[in-house]
Amino acid sequence: MLSSELPPTSAREGASTRPPWVASAVVGALRPGDVRVWSAYLDQPPSIATHYETLLSPDERKRAAAFRFPHDRVRYIVRRGILRTILGAYLNADASALSFAYGPFGKPLIQGPQDYASIRFNVSHRQGMALYALSRDQDLGVDIEFPHSIPEADQISERFFSTQENAVFLSLPLHQRQEAFFRCWTRKEAFIKAIGEGFSFPLHCFDVAFEDGTKSALLSIKGNAERASRWILQDLRPAPNYVGALAIEGRHWNIRCRHFEPNSDPSANLPLLNFEETNV
Ligand SMILES: CC(C)(COP(=O)(O)OP(=O)(O)OC[C@H]1O[C@@H](n2cnc3c(N)ncnc32)[C@H](O)[C@@H]1OP(=O)(O)O)[C@@H](O)C(=O)NCCC(=O)NCCS
Repeated sequence: MLSSELPPTSAREGASTRPPWVASAVVGALRPGDVRVWSAYLDQPPSIATHYETLLSPDERKRAAAFRFPHDRVRYIVRRGILRTILGAYLNADASALSFAYGPFGKPLIQGPQDYASIRFNVSHRQGMALYALSRDQDLGVDIEFPHSIPEADQISERFFSTQENAVFLSLPLHQRQEAFFRCWTRKEAFIKAIGEGFSFPLHCFDVAFEDGTKSALLSIKGNAERASRWILQDLRPAPNYVGALAIEGRHWNIRCRHFEPNSDPSANLPLLNFEETNV
């Protein structure tokens, strides 16, 4: 489906008609050294959601059924269906046959033969948009946020950011703080998701650079600058009004970002349709 045909949703309001990331009829290969990040809108027509529901496992259907609000349930179904579709396309496998295992803090990974397990991925979603990051043999983390006013940002910074980050944040003029807050937050969350620990890893134990005009970087992990320097923190701009970040260990990655549009005819054989690709 072309993005111009998509229904207006709260997530799209204020966004341009077309996201800046674009797609191809084939996903291409995912080679060692490649990182691919896909963005997708989760508010899709019922026919698309119904199709994605057929791809889900009994566990996923059970989780979907537990959502209190229908729009959360549908977004979950679409999010998971797109994840399966993208993974299935890279693996040349039946999307509905994929199965997942979960790390000690809940990070999902693909179960199956070596080739399957070599694909590492991470997902984030906010306000009707999801990001899917994939690589081979290297864990990675991704986060997306929808910046908005947070009246208690100073308190969150004081409580959760590192001492150094908090000092930087409080030194900023008020009009710069919202943007800086989300820059810092997405970079930090991408990192704790890459290591798979989520919020079990204390946010104040590592430092990211987030001042306007400074290069995105992990500065230290529990005081260790050398360990931090092995990581990349890449800003992502999947669409106007959204900010995101990708975290991955290693310095030399071929990172490409694409936007995913579900096929408007779910019975068609092409799993993916109409992407464009861009360098970050
Ligand atoms: C991972 C975590 C940071 C995600 O936070 P969030 O802002 O709510 O959600 P996001 O949209 O960015 O990411 C959600 C996705 O992250 C993935 N995920 C789940 N646990 C993860 C983990 N430990 N590490 C990396 N990714 C994880 C899942 O794919 C999830 O998608 P799903 O909702 O479709 O299952 C958070 O759930 C967490 O910390 N989980 C670990 C559990 C834990 O330690 N909790 C302690 C709370 S104090």
